[in-house]
Amino acid sequence: MLIAGNWKMNTDAAAAAQLAQDVCATVRTDAGVAVAVCPPFVHLTGVGSVLQGTPVRLGAQNMHAAGSGAYTGEVSAPMLVSVGCHYVILGHSERRQFFGEADDSVNAKVRQALSHGLTPIVCVGETLHERKADRAYAVVEKQVSVALRGVDASAPLVVAYEPVWAIGTGETATPAQAQSMHAYIRALLAKQFGKAAAADITILYGGSMKPANAADLVGQPDVDGGLIGGASLNARSFAAIVRAAQQAA
Ligand code: 13P
Repeated sequence: MLIAGNWKMNTDAAAAAQLAQDVCATVRTDAGVAVAVCPPFVHLTGVGSVLQGTPVRLGAQNMHAAGSGAYTGEVSAPMLVSVGCHYVILGHSERRQFFGEADDSVNAKVRQALSHGLTPIVCVGETLHERKADRAYAVVEKQVSVALRGVDASAPLVVAYEPVWAIGTGETATPAQAQSMHAYIRALLAKQFGKAAAADITILYGGSMKPANAADLVGQPDVDGGLIGGASLNARSFAAIVRAAQQAA
């Protein structure tokens, strides 16, 4: 199990350091549930130094597919590694929606992240329009298969199912909807990597997960944790979600 906080474009330097301290002070970690926070790039170093010596891991929210070069404003995998990142979120729906990120680019980033020892958290999920048109499973199948093209079974990998209609809306997928899509994703992974490897891949749910609904979601057999947006900005809420995961683990 993994509970990861995606802070998105929130917090200034002082607030980020404070939130990281509060998370370390509030979250009780144990062997069954890994915990990570993904602050904005500019706070990675500051938050990283707060996390040092604690079990809470550091993640980034995006990266470029190239290792270095003339890509003004971008950040590379080796840079993330050099500031202590363990995870990197790739293909988040907000990147797809507002920055034109497509499946091919997500795939290039996934491979680059893996080649530098980062664990990618690969985000997939359908829009409301796609769900209403009965295309949710087809959309997710394409996102998963293209994003993971050329990736092998031994790669450390996290997939996050984040239905776009549930992100920041207060609307959550029902536990049954989440389980159904997670089982489908696990079957796709089994086709590519084999059943045993697929069983070991962490599949997170994301989209308005909060203390009140976390237990039901992480209690589903194929839900291996959560990628938390809004509720990760409050250390107590985040810690309560971690506790729910520990109870389900
Ligand atoms: P919310 O938890 O705010 O809905 O955000 C989910 C998300 O996008 C995490 O990556």
